[in-house]
Amino acid sequence: MKNILVTGGAGFIGSAFVRYMLERYPEYNILVYDKLTYAGNMDNLLPVHDEPRFRFERGDIADRDTVRRVLSDHQIDTVVNFAAESHVDRSILQADAFIHTDVVGVYLLLDEAKAHGVERFLHVSTDEVYGDIEEGKFSVETDPFAPNSPYAASKAGGELMVRAYHVTHGMNTVITRGSNTFGPYQYPEKLLPFFITEALEDRPLPLYGDGRQVRDWLYVEDHVSGIDLVLHKGVSGEAYNIAGEDNRCNIDVAHQMLDLLGKPHTLLKHVPDRAGHDRRYAMNCDKLRALGWQRAHHWEAALEATVRWYVDNAWWWRKIKTGEYLEYYKRQYAARLAAAE
Ligand code: NAD
Ligand code: TYD
Repeated sequence: MKNILVTGGAGFIGSAFVRYMLERYPEYNILVYDKLTYAGNMDNLLPVHDEPRFRFERGDIADRDTVRRVLSDHQIDTVVNFAAESHVDRSILQADAFIHTDVVGVYLLLDEAKAHGVERFLHVSTDEVYGDIEEGKFSVETDPFAPNSPYAASKAGGELMVRAYHVTHGMNTVITRGSNTFGPYQYPEKLLPFFITEALEDRPLPLYGDGRQVRDWLYVEDHVSGIDLVLHKGVSGEAYNIAGEDNRCNIDVAHQMLDLLGKPHTLLKHVPDRAGHDRRYAMNCDKLRALGWQRAHHWEAALEATVRWYVDNAWWWRKIKTGEYLEYYKRQYAARLAAAE
């Protein structure tokens, strides 16, 4: 492993992985390949911009010719695929881009990686492929898929193609299924960065339904250390859950965040629920632990560090909350918030 292609490396988790890998492995070269959609942001890579082992190429994983050229030009031996459309609410509004990237893109990337003779292919997936998990249960890697949102279904489709390329073509693949991730540089459409940045401006926080939906919260640095371990030690053809094992409901998360900011709980507004909203995600993480992983960050300290980061880095999110973001905000929230008043 020497020349690693990180697709989607200008996004939230991909950029954290790039920063982490460059620091941890002085012998690795990293090429980020990213389409720079609304969620891709070169500011996320500023900390490594001057690092000579870091390179960037703009492109689409579903563009076969460019993928082929990039694999060859940079003598890529390892692919880590973060590239995705990643937001459930956007997939409910319009799912085309999700099929393009999370299904077709994954297939084309795999196919070119095979043709080029890539030695290892890690695909980043999500706990949402398991669907809604009833109270008391924790998903294990062998559980059947039951995706409920167009986002989850597209991620399940991509994963199945990775599996097929391993079984049929003998490709050396591994898959990670991470849980709800939070931390610095997360696009402010996902629950925590959205609520933190809105609360900082004393704006209403639209909580879907009763707010009692449960997510398993994972700090981004723990997510990338899990991916690193699976990349190096995971058994080819296998999938590994990466979970914070910190199951909390949205309303409690929001209250804790508001208390850290010193903002009133009255900012929270119960709004009409998300369609097909999964009530609970929860995963068992024993398989990854058996490889030697354990999380380094606990909820309270990680939430505090995250809140502090958004307070200290308003330059980063204020630039985002313009243009396309405001159009999306209007489509997603204007009627919901009006209904809440
Ligand atoms: P993100 O939306 O912040 O970043 C996605 C990145 O992919 C962006 O930089 C975007 O420009 C790029 N991209 C999108 N389409 C592309 C294409 N066709 N070709 C090349 N680049 C493209 O997402 P994230 O939260 O960092 O998630 C990264 C990965 O982790 C995704 O595969 C996601 O499904 C998975 N995941 C995310 C979470 C989470 O809580 N955020 C949890 C588990 C798994
Ligand atoms: P999100 O960050 O979109 O992640 P996911 O849907 O992939 O789990 O949402 C996390 C939880 O927060 C989910 O139960 C939906 C809820 N949520 C709200 O209540 N209001 C919001 O505005 C958003 C974005 C999410």
